[in-house]
Amino acid sequence: MATTQLSKRTSARSSTVVLKYAMAVSGLIMVGYLVLHMYGNLKAFAGPSAFNEYAHHLRTIGTPILPEKGLLWIVRVVLLAAVLLHAYAAATLWRRNKKAAGYVGAKRYQTKQGKSGVQRSYASFTMRWGGVTIALFIVFHILNLTTNTIHPGGAADTAYGKLHNSFEHWWVLLAYTVAMIAVGFHLWHGFWSAFTTLGQNRSSTRVASRWNTAAIGIAAIITIGFLAPPFSIYFFGLGG
Ligand code: HEM
Repeated sequence: MATTQLSKRTSARSSTVVLKYAMAVSGLIMVGYLVLHMYGNLKAFAGPSAFNEYAHHLRTIGTPILPEKGLLWIVRVVLLAAVLLHAYAAATLWRRNKKAAGYVGAKRYQTKQGKSGVQRSYASFTMRWGGVTIALFIVFHILNLTTNTIHPGGAADTAYGKLHNSFEHWWVLLAYTVAMIAVGFHLWHGFWSAFTTLGQNRSSTRVASRWNTAAIGIAAIITIGFLAPPFSIYFFGLGG
């Protein structure tokens, strides 16, 4: 009897570790994509034709070994798998944590900060609602700039045209800004959490951790890098 309980507990614990690793690895795959995507978007500063050429190149890269858009489809499939795995692991870990902590809804344990026992931690709020915001953003974003189904300033034939027509509108700029801030916070906590999972965070407090500073730095660079082209289009008419 005792042996059964022990092995059950051990396997539950190890699968929690597996899920944590799955979150870290799928998260890092998406971060890799985000860095390349942000860098690619900065081509907008090199002018419309440079940006269009870059967008075209994304579709022909790997040819003739791969068919046209072949690599793009591989990236899409890997990204989709990473998103699904990340969301599944997050939901499972959250449920498991909730069950293990023994609270339901607002009834949580008491701390010095939360004397009533009701708390909503920075991480739980940022990651859960941030994650939902980002998921909704991705759907809007693909309908807006990939398929151009949502085309606020009119439909466009070129990659730069889609970008330009969209970011002439204040509400599109606002929607992307809110989404990029959510991405920034998600990356901050995500990086810190991934560093911890991968064994790099040896500091006793988050604030004192060098890895926390690194996480803030990387998140800020990615957020600002993404927002630079849309703000330049709206405020300075980048690209004419
Ligand atoms: C201000 C921020 C962003 C801008 C200006 C931007 C711009 C673009 C553009 C122009 C495309 C279309 C490329 C093409 O079809 O030629 C695109 C596609 C895409 N973007 Fe973004 N992006 C931004 C942020 C993000 C973020 C934060 C994510 C992920 C969380 C993301 C994920 C994607 C995905 C998945 C695609 C579709 C790629 C494909 O399958 O063709 N983007 N983006």
